[in-house]
Amino acid sequence: MSKIKLGVNIDHVATVRNARGDNYPDPLQAALLAQKYGADSITIHLREDRRHINDNDLKKINSKLKIPLNLEMAPTREMLKIALKENPDYVCLVPENRKEITTEGGLNLNHNKEFLKNIILKLKKKKIRVSLFIEPNQNDIIKAKFFYNSDCIEIHSGKICRLIDRNKKYNKELLKIKNAINIAHTIGLEVHVGHGLNFKSAKIISKLNHIKEFNIGHFLIGNSIFNGFRHSINEFKKIIK
Ligand code: PXP
Repeated sequence: MSKIKLGVNIDHVATVRNARGDNYPDPLQAALLAQKYGADSITIHLREDRRHINDNDLKKINSKLKIPLNLEMAPTREMLKIALKENPDYVCLVPENRKEITTEGGLNLNHNKEFLKNIILKLKKKKIRVSLFIEPNQNDIIKAKFFYNSDCIEIHSGKICRLIDRNKKYNKELLKIKNAINIAHTIGLEVHVGHGLNFKSAKIISKLNHIKEFNIGHFLIGNSIFNGFRHSINEFKKIIK
């Protein structure tokens, strides 16, 4: 089994900063430290309402980071314009709903199909690697590859992580994810997994074959308060090696 790469999502460093409207803690400093501590990439989600990461964070991090920057964004005209200007290494397209606390589900690949396809085409023309954040279902995987021509999919792991956390039965959901990964891998899509991962769920899911990348944010940043950022990154790296 090959090593899974660790993408560190630093959105919630910005959440803490924004709670006081000051400039500390600085997401750029978090990005550079994560890079130093062994992260394989950095993820930031520029939300429409800028509740955590803002445009200036994106600019600064994109100009200073040596490892790849993964920009999560909703498929909108505004975000496309920003992505084409900033030219991050990766873009992960995610659904966005202003009232949600976090990204609640995968993209609806049946909605605004031509618009979404056109966004992906424009990003790919700029050589930006495109990933679609989707639920682990076969139809969406086939569409991601053959209709949208995306490079990768990121499977929303929120549901299984919640089951694992609450000590509920998760085998059915794990099988669903396993089947989804196998289909995606067979048709040539790179597979990422993200949302809600902690040490326990990352360990369980990392046993599945063909996962190339985990994207982990909230738990990692929260755990860093008690155990340190370097230690939290190292723990995840040990789990997914
Ligand atoms: N992957 C995607 C596409 C996401 O939208 C998020 C949340 O911003 C994550 C991964 C990270 O999830 P968490 O913060 O729960 O680790």
